[in-house]
Amino acid sequence: MASQPEEFGLFIEGRWVTPAGAQRYQTTNPATGEAVGSFVAGTAADAAAAVRAASTAFRGWKETPAPKRGEILLEVARRMKQAKEELGRTVTREMGKVIGEGRGDVQESIDFIEYMAGEGRRLVGETVPSELRSKFCLTVRQPKGVVVCITPWNFPTAIPNWKIAAALIAGNTVVFKPASNTARCGAEVVRLYEAAGVPPGVLNFVTGSGGVVGNALVGDPRVRAVSFTGGVETGRDVYVRGAQGLKMVHLELGGKNPVILMEDADLSLALDGVLFGAFGTAGQRCTATSRLILHTQVYDEFLGRLTERLGHFSVGDPLDPATGMGPVASADQERKILEYIALGQREATLRYGGRKLTGGPYDRGHFIEPTVFETSHGTRISREEIFGPVLSVIRVEGYEEAVRVANDVDYGLSSSIYTRDVNRAFRAIADLEAGITYINAPTIGAEVQLPFGGVKNTGNGGREAGSAAIEEFTEIKSVFVDFSSKLQKAQIDSETAA
Ligand code: UN1
Repeated sequence: MASQPEEFGLFIEGRWVTPAGAQRYQTTNPATGEAVGSFVAGTAADAAAAVRAASTAFRGWKETPAPKRGEILLEVARRMKQAKEELGRTVTREMGKVIGEGRGDVQESIDFIEYMAGEGRRLVGETVPSELRSKFCLTVRQPKGVVVCITPWNFPTAIPNWKIAAALIAGNTVVFKPASNTARCGAEVVRLYEAAGVPPGVLNFVTGSGGVVGNALVGDPRVRAVSFTGGVETGRDVYVRGAQGLKMVHLELGGKNPVILMEDADLSLALDGVLFGAFGTAGQRCTATSRLILHTQVYDEFLGRLTERLGHFSVGDPLDPATGMGPVASADQERKILEYIALGQREATLRYGGRKLTGGPYDRGHFIEPTVFETSHGTRISREEIFGPVLSVIRVEGYEEAVRVANDVDYGLSSSIYTRDVNRAFRAIADLEAGITYINAPTIGAEVQLPFGGVKNTGNGGREAGSAAIEEFTEIKSVFVDFSSKLQKAQIDSETAA
């Protein structure tokens, strides 16, 4: 097999270091089994060293004018544009999404970093009138301090950058722990921040397991905020651990995102949307379309067209631009998805796919067919997040039932309705319990300038991206400036002040 993969250390206080006696692990290409990088299996002591570095660097970074911080972010973005092709290929090699989406992952990073660089000249507060004379009331935004960013493997550059760029522009210092199986993407991102001139200690990078490194970071009393994207069970655990230290914990968790397809929809448009939403990134997006809520009048026709199209949908080498869907991201993912497919075969009707692909190059990777089940609402496959290329199709008689089904799950991230009826579209915006609603577009593909997040078990009320990202990473300070040169008593003097 190929030569040894490149070795990466931890990035602490501006230096790449491999702690003495460090254990190592490798990340692998889910399409081929080849090693992509070698990483330190970090310890609690490594986590503590990274927090110490971030803590020491905080004051200097906080005092750096925000527009200057923005200039550094623009330089990160500039370098990332130059590196886009290579980094996009690294995303595809380490995570398995098709190359167009690998580049898209990097483009989403660039978009967000540029957006946040501009925030360096905003970071807006508010000014409001005082109830007293010669007094000024305003708010300013201040960084929280050391923040921990724990990120998933499905957007191995975009989600880290959503967090890191927002945290940094606001003046926080960061410890970043990537998903173990996409550590190479994380390390390449950190290298770009390093090259762009982020000062030592401002961004630190620690690889290792969630149970060891993640818990040590979340539990460290010097850490003021945690931003976590991942599964709901881990998220709950992170929340509880963070709560012990009364930390702000921001959670972005799962989804069970519906497309509602009404009888008056443009079926060709919806067909492209459902295929992209359900099988893009092999269904491994929090926003993936995992339920198609299909009006009975168009049910047979649409399902027929969908399965016909899937017959021409190629699954294979994600670096080949002609490939429709690559492998799923890991052996763990494969096992979990195949378990759900087996469950679906017991509780629902398999309409398309359902097999692990084998033979030839498939044997080296984790390839699963795009899979479609017909199911009634309420089965486990129709309610639980599968995070794979598995679509549950549910027949409904009309709009009211469609919305009831759409909302009757534990999650509420993304949602979509295809209809030509403008009134119904606007009703759906009001009715769907989700953080994101698309009209005549699939459930995936959020743009970075709007807030991203969801309701119910998708999170705990926060949003990232867009201007909301600044909320996530700042404290608001209220400031009262009294220039009357006398003691004025709010609530007391105001009664008599004429
Ligand atoms: C995720 O899957 O966690 O909206 C993020 C989208 C992407 C981001 C997905 N822009 O599909």
